Amino acid sequence: MLIVNDPCSLLIVVLATKLLEHAMNKNHLSNLRPAKKVDTSTAAADGHKPVESSVVRFSENGEAVDNEWIKKIHEALLTALDLSRVINMPADKARSQIREAATKLLNEANAPLSASTRQLVVRGVENEILGHGPLEPLLEDPTVSDILVNRFDSVYVERKGKLVETNVKFRDDDHLLTIIDRIVSHVGRRVDESSPMVDARLSDGSRVNAIIPPLALDGPAMSIRRFIRDKLSMNDLINIGSINDAMSEVLGAIVKAQLNIIVSGGTGTGKTTILNILSGYIGSTERIITIEDSAELQLQQPHVVRLETRPENIEGKGEISQRELVKNSLRMRPDRVIIGEVRGGEALDMLQAMNTGHDGSLATLHANTPRDAISRLENMISMAGLQLPMSAMRSQIASAVDVILQLERMEDGKRRITSLTEVQGMEGDIITMSEIFAFNRTGLDEVGDVTGYFSATGVVPNFHEKLKKRGSDISTSLYKPKSIGLDAA
Ligand SMILES: Nc1ncnc2c1ncn2[C@@H]1O[C@H](COP(=O)(O)OP(=O)(O)O)[C@@H](O)[C@H]1O
Ligand SMILES: [Mg+2]
Repeated sequence: MLIVNDPCSLLIVVLATKLLEHAMNKNHLSNLRPAKKVDTSTAAADGHKPVESSVVRFSENGEAVDNEWIKKIHEALLTALDLSRVINMPADKARSQIREAATKLLNEANAPLSASTRQLVVRGVENEILGHGPLEPLLEDPTVSDILVNRFDSVYVERKGKLVETNVKFRDDDHLLTIIDRIVSHVGRRVDESSPMVDARLSDGSRVNAIIPPLALDGPAMSIRRFIRDKLSMNDLINIGSINDAMSEVLGAIVKAQLNIIVSGGTGTGKTTILNILSGYIGSTERIITIEDSAELQLQQPHVVRLETRPENIEGKGEISQRELVKNSLRMRPDRVIIGEVRGGEALDMLQAMNTGHDGSLATLHANTPRDAISRLENMISMAGLQLPMSAMRSQIASAVDVILQLERMEDGKRRITSLTEVQGMEGDIITMSEIFAFNRTGLDEVGDVTGYFSATGVVPNFHEKLKKRGSDISTSLYKPKSIGLDAA
């Protein structure tokens, strides 16, 4: 039985009940899968029995939340509140209006839920209307770096480099699709049968990829790469053991002295992270242009213009490539150009920029060794379609790039800067390089962690003179190799 105290509440509950049936039968995305029969016998107003199969644990402390109640109250609210008006209110006001109305409906429907479950249901309803539905608790969790939705009922997260399955579930494919739809429409894209793969970004900067049937065979899937607010700092990297003090000191001086740096490594080795850290050494008076496929860099300097490529639209038009952006950036009077990841022909324009007064430019690329990074650059220059002879390409590279940093994620899961290599010049047709710092691997310990130590190789780099000329007081003692046996870590 319903306990209704005032006429206004009665109206809401009656309206809610009526529209509940309508809402439950409505299936606006039904073209993607056969419509499911909905059991309306459990609707808010006429049944108090929670449906066992719909109870999911979605709070981190393991508390059961009744998904079905979230759905019921949400749908009742669709009509009880003018949601289009609520959504356009300031966030706190919208939340409090929804919270108030949802609590009232729950109370009036006499839901057989504990006080704490009620709170979670109300929270769930808020998230359905204003946020990302059941993903919201994961998005609020700062330890989550990736959220991977394999299916509506299978959601994994990555925490501290480890993948774990969560108890988070969507109700069904449509529910998941509604959230995907909200995310992508927010950035002016759409996802449907004619464009079943889409990239988007959350307002906090997290990157989203969604792919739906018919390409995804088991229903819509979504991958979210979180934008980590508390980025790692150079000190963090030293504490984690990704780099040592001497290397970090030399690196800071290299950036300040405006040497051109290429950060090389595989996917997820920490290239963007180190690029961010390095950019922190750039002075606040320098004008910086950043170019990315998907903006991830967070520069602290005041004088920054951020550019991002644009994919082609549904008609296959309107694409703006990194190459066009690099060319354009040179007309913007930059002191430094930072390219998130060089992948193609823009490598040529980048090297030309490095060679013509835009010293101190930084970029990352995908390669496994410093030598491999050079070959990648050669390949990418060829993609520019200029048919440059090999020797011209190489001398372009040798004179543009000063330093290559090699990053590696080793089998113990740790990321390390395994090499700081100076590009010195040409000997005949060959680019000469000299390693200045390296991680010397000694083996594996009993728990499977890689053992080894960072050390200078003993080579004093040619760039040392440049560092000094540009005001750095780096001591040559930093280039002394570690005396192994005494203090090898
Ligand atoms: N030195 C490090 N130690 C531990 N984790 C790191 C380190 N560098 C980066 N990470 C983490 O690894 C993930 C991938 O880093 P990212 O810089 O995006 O890699 P890439 O650009 O090479 O794909 C991020 O979650 C980041 O916080
Ligand atoms: Mg990256």
